[in-house]
Amino acid sequence: MTTIQIDRRLPEEFFATALRADALAGLTATPKSLPPKWFYDERGSELFDKITLLDEYYPTRAEREILAAAAGQIAAQTGAATLAELGSGSGDKTRLLLDALAAAGTLRRYVPVDVSEAALAVAATRMTERYQDLAVHAVLSDFTAHLGLPGDPGRRLVVFLGGTIGNLLPAERAEFLARVRAELRSGDALLLGTDLVKDPAVLVAAYDDAAGVTAEFNKNMLRVLNAELGADFDVDQFEHVAVWNAEAEWIEMRLRSLADQTIHVPGIDRTVRFAAGEEMRTEISAKFRREGLAAELAAAGLAMRSWWTDAGGRFGLSLSVPA
Ligand code: SAH
Ligand code: TRP
Repeated sequence: MTTIQIDRRLPEEFFATALRADALAGLTATPKSLPPKWFYDERGSELFDKITLLDEYYPTRAEREILAAAAGQIAAQTGAATLAELGSGSGDKTRLLLDALAAAGTLRRYVPVDVSEAALAVAATRMTERYQDLAVHAVLSDFTAHLGLPGDPGRRLVVFLGGTIGNLLPAERAEFLARVRAELRSGDALLLGTDLVKDPAVLVAAYDDAAGVTAEFNKNMLRVLNAELGADFDVDQFEHVAVWNAEAEWIEMRLRSLADQTIHVPGIDRTVRFAAGEEMRTEISAKFRREGLAAELAAAGLAMRSWWTDAGGRFGLSLSVPA
């Protein structure tokens, strides 16, 4: 058995403190909303991995197709010794990059950064077993608060896959990119996966699959509130909703209350009412266009050097360097 060391950068009592603050703000706001990082307890991470296998959820397959074709170029262009991956999840697609960097002979260290300890353990164990000489340094962190990048010498490639950047609101996204830029040194690079604007029917299906896995994933946030804050949400009294916001160009995930109901949330000392039909936003998933993304990167001080898409033009992968 390999033992995985996890570097804990989450503040003490993260679940008790940050979740409570988010729940208090989000459940008492109009309209109600909660931030997406609270999907990912162990069950949430497993459900996300199931989503990536669904017929309707094309982003994972499209991004894997791009990585399979471009990993060699990425390795050659970056010469990275450290691959630091934000929101690594189980790190399945990352192996394509690690293989290419290992083959190029530059790879020394893999740094998965995630808010989910369960996901980190999977990624770190998997990479330790696959690559004999790889130093794996797992970081438990909230990347909206602390990136968790190691300061080691050598070129670093920061990787942010899965379109997860689209889960940040535009202002959060700008702040996030600026923070990444501030931590990059000359010779470092950012590899960013972004889902692209396309037929809304295809987009909506990707976030509302026929088997209902995404619905379970969305409702998992209510289970997290029950477990961590002692809330009494009946998850069957909510339904999953995914809508395309054409103006903002993002998919919005919501939970719709099926009845007038009162929820007790002892962890924040509140009783929260939901009207029948009331919707609470749990996530956005923004979709991008190449020019718009290049402009956002430029505004953060990053210059897009390469751009790849899958053959179907559904998903984009960009490599950027400090401008
Ligand atoms: N990169 C993987 C997983 C994407 S799912 C892929 O492409 O398939 C999003 C991942 O980001 C999850 O593992 C989740 O736990 C993590 N995550 C979400 N919000 C986060 C945050 N604020 N800080 C750190 N990790 C976060
Ligand atoms: N980063 C993923 C995305 O935006 C997260 C995700 C996929 C997701 N399916 C979901 C989040 C369903 C909430 C609900 O594509």
